[in-house]
Amino acid sequence: MSILITGGTGYIGSHTVVELSKSISDKIIILDNLFNSDFSVIEKLQTITKKNIIFLKSDICDTNFLKHIFTKYKITSVIHFAGLKAVGESVEKPLLYYNNNIVGTISLLNVMKEFNCKKIVFSSSATVYGNPEHLPIKETAKLSTTNPYGYSKLIIENILTDIYNSDPSWSIAILRYFNPIGADKSGIIGENPSGIPNNLMPYIIKVATKQLDSLNIFGNNYDTIDGTGVRDYIHVSDLADGHIKALDYINNNNEIIKINLGTGKGYSVLQLVKTFIKVNNINIPYNIVDRRPGDIASCYANTELAKKVLNWESKKSLQDMCLDSYNFIKYNIV
Ligand code: NAD
Ligand code: WQD
Repeated sequence: MSILITGGTGYIGSHTVVELSKSISDKIIILDNLFNSDFSVIEKLQTITKKNIIFLKSDICDTNFLKHIFTKYKITSVIHFAGLKAVGESVEKPLLYYNNNIVGTISLLNVMKEFNCKKIVFSSSATVYGNPEHLPIKETAKLSTTNPYGYSKLIIENILTDIYNSDPSWSIAILRYFNPIGADKSGIIGENPSGIPNNLMPYIIKVATKQLDSLNIFGNNYDTIDGTGVRDYIHVSDLADGHIKALDYINNNNEIIKINLGTGKGYSVLQLVKTFIKVNNINIPYNIVDRRPGDIASCYANTELAKKVLNWESKKSLQDMCLDSYNFIKYNIV
C-alpha cells in the first residue's frame, strides 16, 4: 500500500511526513512541483525519518502524470497539501489561485476516482470562517470568505462534500487549520519563506536574524486583551499528528468529517512577541502601525470535535512554538 502526499516538501506536508513515518508502514510518495519548497527537504526528511521516501517533482494539474503515479505505486490514500496560500497574492492573481488550487484538486480527484482510491485528507483553513460571529469557532459556524484563496478552500470543501453525497464509499477528512507555527524538534525542517513574509512568525524570525529591522504590529485598537489581534497558534508537529489521527479515522470509517485543528487558545500578537523575546532571550524591536486591511480581531477554535472524533488534541505550548521556530533558524541560517 502507498500513500500519496501532495505538497509534501512544503511546511506542513514535510512535518506530516515525519509523523507518518513513525506510524505507518505504507510506502510514502511525495509529489510536489517545488514552487514553494526545495529538493533539500527530501534529504532532510530521509535524515530525520531514516526511511527511503519517494519524491516526484510534478504538478497536480498534470493529470497524465498523476495517472502514471497511481498506476505505478497503487496509491490507496492521499493527503492533499498542495496549494498556493498567500491571501494578498490571491487577490492580485485570482486565476492563478483558482487554477492551481481548484483545477489542480479536480485533476487529483478525477484520477483518484478512476483508480478507485477514495480516501483523502484535505488541508482546509480557518479562513473559511471569515469574521466569526461566535468564539471559540465551532465547525458548524457560518462559512464565508473575502478573498480568492479563501474561496478556493471553500469551493474545494463543497466539491468534496458533493462527491461524498454522490458516492458514500469515499472517506474524506477536511481539516481546518488555525495558525501553524513552530518546527520539528530536530531543528532540521521548518518554515523559511523567501522574500518579505506575510505571516507573523516568519516575520519575527526575519527580525530575530536581523534580515529585517523591526516588526510592524498591525493595529492595537482591536477589542482584545491588549488591542492587538488574537489568533490560535498551533505547533506544526501537533498539527501533523492531527493528520495521522484523521488518516486513521478515514481508513476505518466511510464518512466525511470537517474538523478544526487548533489549540482552542487565543494569544495576541503582543503576547506572542513577548513570549518569543523571553524564551529565546533575543530582542525583537516593533512598531505599532495601522490595521492590515481584511484582518479580523480574534480567531480561535472550538476543539471538542477533534477530541471526540479523532481523539486528538494539541500538546505543545506557545513557549515550545517560539523555541522551536527559532531553533530551526539557528540550525539553518544563523
Ligand atoms: P507550503 O507552501 O509550505 O506547502 C505547499 C506545497 O505545495 C509547496 O511545497 C508547493 O511547492 C506545493 N505546491 C503548490 N502548488 C502545487 C501544485 N500545483 N502541484 C504540486 N505541488 C504544489 O504551504 P503549507 O503552509 O505547508 O500549507 C499546506 C496546505 O495547508 C496548503 O494547502 C495551505 O493552503 C493549507 N493551509 C496552510 C496554513 C498556514 O498557515 N500555513 C493554514 C491553513 C491552511
Ligand atoms: C496573525 C496576526 C496580524 C504579520 C493567515 C491567513 C489564513 C491562514 C493563516 C492559510 C494578525 C498580525 C501579522 C505582521 C502583524 N493561512 N501580524 N504583523 O492573518 O491570522 O492568517 O495565515 O490558510 O488564511 O489569512 O495570520 O500570521 O498573517 O497574522 O501584526 O507582520 O499577526 O494582523 O493579527 P492570519 P498572520
